[in-house]
Amino acid sequence: MTVYKKLLQQLQVEPKAWLVTGVAGFIGSNLLEMLLKHNQRVVGLDNFATGHKKNLDEVKSVVTAEQWADFELITGDIRNLSDCQKACSGVDYVLHQAALGSVPRSIADPIATNDANIVGFLNMLVAARDAKVKSFVYAASSSTYGDHPGLPKVENIIGKPLSPYAVTKYVNELYAEVFARTYGFRTIGLRYFNVFGQRQDPAGAYAAVIPKWAAAMIADEDVYINGDGTTSRDFCFIENAVQANLLSATMHDSEATNQVYNVAVSGRTDLNALFNSLKVTLAQLGIVYSKDPVYRDFRAGDVRHSQADIGKAQKLLGYHPEFDIDSGIRKAMPWYVASLSK
Ligand SMILES: NC(=O)c1ccc[n+]([C@@H]2O[C@H](COP(=O)([O-])OP(=O)(O)OC[C@H]3O[C@@H](n4cnc5c(N)ncnc54)[C@H](O)[C@@H]3O)[C@@H](O)[C@H]2O)c1
Repeated sequence: MTVYKKLLQQLQVEPKAWLVTGVAGFIGSNLLEMLLKHNQRVVGLDNFATGHKKNLDEVKSVVTAEQWADFELITGDIRNLSDCQKACSGVDYVLHQAALGSVPRSIADPIATNDANIVGFLNMLVAARDAKVKSFVYAASSSTYGDHPGLPKVENIIGKPLSPYAVTKYVNELYAEVFARTYGFRTIGLRYFNVFGQRQDPAGAYAAVIPKWAAAMIADEDVYINGDGTTSRDFCFIENAVQANLLSATMHDSEATNQVYNVAVSGRTDLNALFNSLKVTLAQLGIVYSKDPVYRDFRAGDVRHSQADIGKAQKLLGYHPEFDIDSGIRKAMPWYVASLSK
């Protein structure tokens, strides 16, 4: 039995109180679903900047009434310290996901990204420290590797940031490290690598590639590839990211805390291969997409290649990703088909 399976069993026996910020978003709502399904008590904080009430409604529809009764939503903003304090009160573990994602969004509006991702992050750190939570796990990002060309990416070798978003995520790591050193506060940063799966928003200019392309293919619209299609990523299915969060929060080994970890599968898929993989999976669901992709310029701020070394998380957290990109796409696609065909 994996460390994670054992942890889930143990949590059922001894439920804890969790705070998930960004709970109405993609990753936050998946964390909520897993926690409630294992009878945990969850407080969620969100200002619905990019999250959706329908994500919460969907979680409600897949848990029991008793499990849903263990969830309290606070509609509030991490840029307000008092909202963060209210949310942290009485909580064992914080899973801090709230932020403004997207490299292009941060290039268009660096001040908004800075406010949510740095001011908001610092508020959450202070509130969680003062509430004496057991640990604070936060969403870091693979964008912190910046312009460093080395592959696979190893946690202690980073380059210079390529976007305002990447700056904010690196500042998060610096603040977390200083809070560990100065106040003895337990933090773990998870550098997510292109997480995908159910409830990831396909709409808007800042949508991530997998939901955006899936939506375009289902609607029989053009799929745009930025660059020549050789840009590569380590796509990570949401359930792997959920696993990393739960393992991190409950980790008591002092060697493993106050660290950052890559969260990925250590695979490398280029955009041309991703296009074909989505097309094949949709065809298996009876949706035939016959257009060729439309190639356009590379996008500013994007790193060309990304692939994680996940050895550190495997060794220190017992992280064992259960899904590779293909099994993740097979699991996610029926959700996209159902929700986008409505
Ligand atoms: N999805 C990925 O591939 C990926 C990769 C690297 C890092 N991340 C990080 O993971 C976290 C979650 O990302 P996601 O993909 O679920 O994005 P998302 O946009 O779906 O979720 C973010 C949530 O945070 C909320 N939020 C934003 N600003 C807020 C504020 N000021 N106060 C309260 N709530 C606020 C949004 O309303 C939304 O519900 C983010 O920190 C993001 O930077 C995601």
